[in-house]
Amino acid sequence: MQTILVTGGAGFIGANFILKARKAQWANIVNLDKLTYASNLQSLVDLQEDPNYYFIQGDIGNLELVRYLLDQYQPNAVINFAAESHVDRSILSPQNFIQTNIVGTFHLLEASKAYWQKLTSPKQEQFRFLHISTDEVYGSLNPNDPPFKEDNPYLPNSPYAASKASSDHLVRAYHHTYGFPTLTTNCSNNYGPFQFPEKLIPLTIINALNGKPLPIYGNGQNVRDWLYVKEHCDAIYLVLKEGIIGEAYNIGGLNEQTNLSVVEKICTILDELVPKSDFRHSSLISFVKDRPGHDWRYAIDSSKISNNLGWQPKENFDSGLLKTVQWYLNNSAWVESVQTSSYQNWIKQNYEKR
Ligand code: NAD
Ligand code: TYD
Repeated sequence: MQTILVTGGAGFIGANFILKARKAQWANIVNLDKLTYASNLQSLVDLQEDPNYYFIQGDIGNLELVRYLLDQYQPNAVINFAAESHVDRSILSPQNFIQTNIVGTFHLLEASKAYWQKLTSPKQEQFRFLHISTDEVYGSLNPNDPPFKEDNPYLPNSPYAASKASSDHLVRAYHHTYGFPTLTTNCSNNYGPFQFPEKLIPLTIINALNGKPLPIYGNGQNVRDWLYVKEHCDAIYLVLKEGIIGEAYNIGGLNEQTNLSVVEKICTILDELVPKSDFRHSSLISFVKDRPGHDWRYAIDSSKISNNLGWQPKENFDSGLLKTVQWYLNNSAWVESVQTSSYQNWIKQNYEKR
């Protein structure tokens, strides 16, 4: 069986990927994660007894550590999920985004390239470095613009998007210059189990359950494309197995929604599952000061991965959202474990002055 070095596997998408990879026996997994505020090892508690899953706490920017792990575990692939990932935090303090997303990815590329160069020729041919990125690198769309294609220009607007764009460029350059076997995926907004409640969907669910205001930036008409996280994980594995070296693949849910509509749908689900006698959850909706530089719309043209690799999103948004809300209702211990004092401080910092 293959071994994959996954970075950032204690975060939202990485944890979903690892759980799926171990369940489906895709590969043995070595998980390197720094354990920032966004991580949660409880997400991976089901793998505690799994002899083919290894966890190492550490930074992708630690060249020595990454070199050691590559030599020790001899992976056939590296999948780089590790990143600072929240736009609002990148606006308030961009430093960590530069450090992890750009400098960290650079060190990870350096160590991985050196490891790959020492492999035997058949193992070199098998090896892949898959970089997980975002549609936000393409900038913002107007209402009637066509969705992002892989050859759209990079026009990032937030420090987060700019740092991810930089890392994508480094990955591209390592393929072009050194022949290093890279792949990049650019995905739209994910939702599902284990997402840290600073992002719109889990924040809305948790605030609504606590009877707190549901903050909507601006007029709530900004549009995002939403993909159920497990479908993203399938697409990642497919690109790893069958993607053409050096190429990028856009991944999306064919599911554009305004933020207001997303929040209203969550409220309707909660009215059904946890009805309140004295109020409807939508009465908690509160329009607040907009995010600076707030991108208007993201939409993905995923015809490349669909035509070339046969991947299509199948989950219907209403059923995916229902499953997600149910997951947060059924996992109150996980939810409580992430609501630390540093989380409360973040909520204060981001929302108090809005
Ligand atoms: P997340 O913030 O939930 O998790 C990130 C993980 O990376 C955390 O476990 C954190 O501890 C770890 N990490 C951070 N800095 C690190 C470092 N220097 N070294 C090692 N580990 C480090 O993020 P996510 O939502 O799971 O996103 C994963 C990847 O997918 C990111 O690269 C993100 O840009 C990309 N992406 C996310 C979305 C989305 O909607 N969440 C959409 C498209 C692309
Ligand atoms: P978010 O989940 O932070 O993802 P991203 O900024 O990467 O798209 O935000 C999704 C959308 O929801 C985005 O348009 C900003 C908006 N939003 C709110 O309206 N209120 C909030 O409290 C948050 C966190 C986001």
